[in-house]
Amino acid sequence: MNELKKNISAVISSLLPDVSADDIMSLIAPTPDSSMGDFTVACFKLAKSLRKPPIKIAGELMDKLNASLPEGISKIEALNGYLNFYVSDKYIADNIIGKIISVGNDYGKNDIGNGKTMVIDYSSPNIAKPFHIGHLGTTAIGNSIKRIHQFSGYKCIGINHLGDWGTQFGRLIVAYHGWGNKEAIEKIGVKELARIYAEFYVRAESDPTLNDKAREEFSKLEHGDKEALDLWKWFKEISLNEFMRLYKVLGIEFESYSGESFYYDKMQAVEELQEKGLLKESDGAMIVPLDEYKMPPCLILKKDGTTLYATRDITAAIYRWNTYHFDKCLYVTDAGQSLYFAQWFKVIGLMGYEFEKRLVHVPYGKISVNGAKLATRTGNVVLLEELFDEAISRVRAIIEEKNPGMSSENKDEIAKKVGLGAVIFNQLSAGRIKDVNFVWEDVLNFDGNTGPYAQYTYARCCSVVSKCDDETKAGNSNINNGYSCAALNEDERALALLLASFPDRVIQALGEYEPSDITRFIIDLCQTFNRFYHNCPVINAESDIKRLRADLCRSTKAVLGNALWLIGLKQTERV
Ligand code: ARG
Repeated sequence: MNELKKNISAVISSLLPDVSADDIMSLIAPTPDSSMGDFTVACFKLAKSLRKPPIKIAGELMDKLNASLPEGISKIEALNGYLNFYVSDKYIADNIIGKIISVGNDYGKNDIGNGKTMVIDYSSPNIAKPFHIGHLGTTAIGNSIKRIHQFSGYKCIGINHLGDWGTQFGRLIVAYHGWGNKEAIEKIGVKELARIYAEFYVRAESDPTLNDKAREEFSKLEHGDKEALDLWKWFKEISLNEFMRLYKVLGIEFESYSGESFYYDKMQAVEELQEKGLLKESDGAMIVPLDEYKMPPCLILKKDGTTLYATRDITAAIYRWNTYHFDKCLYVTDAGQSLYFAQWFKVIGLMGYEFEKRLVHVPYGKISVNGAKLATRTGNVVLLEELFDEAISRVRAIIEEKNPGMSSENKDEIAKKVGLGAVIFNQLSAGRIKDVNFVWEDVLNFDGNTGPYAQYTYARCCSVVSKCDDETKAGNSNINNGYSCAALNEDERALALLLASFPDRVIQALGEYEPSDITRFIIDLCQTFNRFYHNCPVINAESDIKRLRADLCRSTKAVLGNALWLIGLKQTERV
């Protein structure tokens, strides 16, 4: 479609003085509905430079263009200063459907990122703390943003910046020595670590010396004390094993697991800040004042000389810049950390690093379950793994009811894909910055705007395609031999045009770091495909129409499959 629009822009520009094809291209927009054509050129934006009323511009252009219709266009109409274009059926059949078939699974990819590297810092849970639903956002959004970039030609470095350093390890070591139990930790894992950690706060209320002990332990850790380091390694291993289990189930991979601890012996940034005269003392701590920029100071060193979250992020950013020379480095975290990122990005700028402009915080909203907000400190958390398990078992029950005859193995496999997909889709479809509420009935509704609906439609599409493949050879369908049927019906047109908009939707999602652009497209596509499927017989259609419709199903399968992959959902060949 873009090619068609580019050609038309060139033709229009040749009819107007001092208006470039690019100018016209930027005026092209979709029409509000198909009764007004397939796309439009808003002529009122030309009125000033051409010194003519928009209605006149549109009317004159219509007359000139109608005298010899541009290729691929069947009709042009001027309406209220808009010039509306109707794409011809032949163009849709041969150039849109034909193109998707010939490009196959690569359809929708672009090369915006060729030769560029994107660093994406996401998921990044804290060691020894449960992986709870607050981490769903960063994990699902980060993974999707990464895939959208890969699809656009970027080399992507996914970094899991584990929260594996900091005073909390001092507390954990004190807790372990005081009231921890090795066997229980080995048996129960992170939940037990989190339990003894939470107990630290309770005990510290009546015994404040525990806080001093914790600081001491962390200081020992920062100075490489063997016993402290061994314990820390053990805590980390236990946590990482659990995190990895979840990533594996979700099909999420990272290029690097270098978390906060990776930087503890690379703290030259502190000296650099000192040399550049940016550090100031405040109550014994070292800070970079930021009042000039209307922000609270950025804390660099505590009173006892230990480093902080920001110190490690600053060091990590410099390290990443030197290692990857990224085009951008994204940080996907909840919106609660927005000020924090603005603060230390500013410090990077003050240090004189131009790459400050390449650091991007990508925030997202809060999550609640059935309206109840997440509360970590009180222990009222929903673990991500438990949430997924529940989704899987609920989907398993639905499948049992819908399709009792299916083999138990198939039921398990599908329940897993659809259950995980339902949770991820719900998170992503809200729109990145919006708060997400989690209500089972909505998340799992097979007829709603949900993951199960999308995966179910994909399976239906696959089943039609496999039936078609027996009868209409896929090899026959290519751009060169055209389709013999003359006219397309409304449902066929709508489906083909929507499929043709996929490449642009990918570019939009890329520019906005917004997976919900893709989830919205998926729902549109499923609805349009289901309407087509309901109204247009495929297998029982006459032979020339059958090939075109079969190719529409194949195109839908390719595009929907890609779109599902982009948001991190598994493709379900059958449901
Ligand atoms: N571990 C942090 C948390 O759970 C998120 C880390 C985000 N990445 C970063 N480079 N600060 O809140």
